[in-house]
Amino acid sequence: TSNQMWGGRFAAGPDAIMEAINASIGFDKRMAEQDIAGSRAHAAMLAATGIVKSSDAEAMREGLLTVLSEIEGGTFEFSTALEDIHMNVEARLKEIVGPAAGRLHTGRSRNDQVATDFRLWVRDQLDAAEKGLEALMQALLGQAEAGADWVMPGFTHLQTAQPVTWGHHMMAYVEMFGRDLSRVRDARKRMNESPLGAAALAGTSFPIDRHMTAEALGFDRPMANSLDAVSARDFALEFLSVASISAMHLSRFAEELVIWSSAQFRFVTLSDRFSTGSSIMPQKKNPDAAELIRAKIGRIFGANVALMMVMKGLPLAYSKDMQEDKEQVFDAADNWMLALAAMEGMVRDMTANRPSLEAAAASGFSTATDLADWLVRELDLPFRDAHHVTGALVAMAEGKDCDLPDLTLADMQSVHAGITQAVFDVLGVHNSVSSRTSYGGTAPVQVRAQVARWKEVLG
Ligand code: ARG
Repeated sequence: TSNQMWGGRFAAGPDAIMEAINASIGFDKRMAEQDIAGSRAHAAMLAATGIVKSSDAEAMREGLLTVLSEIEGGTFEFSTALEDIHMNVEARLKEIVGPAAGRLHTGRSRNDQVATDFRLWVRDQLDAAEKGLEALMQALLGQAEAGADWVMPGFTHLQTAQPVTWGHHMMAYVEMFGRDLSRVRDARKRMNESPLGAAALAGTSFPIDRHMTAEALGFDRPMANSLDAVSARDFALEFLSVASISAMHLSRFAEELVIWSSAQFRFVTLSDRFSTGSSIMPQKKNPDAAELIRAKIGRIFGANVALMMVMKGLPLAYSKDMQEDKEQVFDAADNWMLALAAMEGMVRDMTANRPSLEAAAASGFSTATDLADWLVRELDLPFRDAHHVTGALVAMAEGKDCDLPDLTLADMQSVHAGITQAVFDVLGVHNSVSSRTSYGGTAPVQVRAQVARWKEVLG
């Protein structure tokens, strides 16, 4: 039998394969709540503008609430023959309220309907991401506050560079996730316009009130161009871009946790709650959550690229290609939220191994720059000469298989006669980090100031 929504023009129903390629109900049922909210706003507007009788609108309202409770209660029967969430809801509405349901689609198309539902769905996810990022930042602040003066190696090229503080390293991620948060808020502001009432593509001759439906759905305003309203998916792409950048930050941190929790580094111990064991090697405690964050992030990047590819060749206005937008966004959103929550849990639970951090901080000639700076400050050497002298001392220490503080004053003076005992004061890692008090530097006093600032920002 032909389709009940457009059967007038059709003599035959679709081939089974047509139905399989065409149907989106398998995934877009996730927008049921948004679809019903959109329909309720539309129905109320149709009554307020006199386009339908209030009694019909009231029947629609009650029927839509019944449909919603059936979906929430798990008794709703989704049908592939009805293609998508929009037609599933409308068909069920018709069963419940009869002919009045047929007036709901006045001045509306599935094109503006799907655009509306999807915007509402993405908006909810941006709100969830905001919460997830804030919770993760709070967890990082807790770590930073506890360890504002714990020393650890700072790396470049993953080679020991200069000592930094644990708090400083944690706060670096607070800055990154803070920018992610501001990108989330920007994206939400930009996408919060209503496509509803754009109809198929050209608007409608019915005297609809798009401002009314926009307001009812919490949008700031209706979109100003009906062609754009039904064609635009940049809100979804912006969501995926923001998610991708944030995911990249999560992945870098996950990679650090994998390295830090290894027996060779022993910088952190992850909690049992966020680790797994091995079925054969009894000693194993694996950082699976961090590894899975690192891996799942690839799906988010993939979704971003996939939707870019779907959209890049589409002429205005709607094309069915755009139905492929949802699975990408759903999957990316699910994995972003999961990664945020898993990272928050890991960070809250993890224990920094202070002795290991400090021992590592002192190894690898990490205070060589402090020594060179001392030569500049105390002996007035040009920095390039100081660099050279220090390099020679590092080579000497390497030859003796010891660290810089283990050299004797005589060793030092054999390279530069002006060096005095006072140089040993700057070779300690605590001295090194406390001296870096420049704004944004690693000194505990700077770290504590940044912790205080962020605590105020996050409330
Ligand atoms: N399921 C469709 C989608 O997700 C809804 C819009 C269909 N519109 C149309 N003209 N066929 O894009």
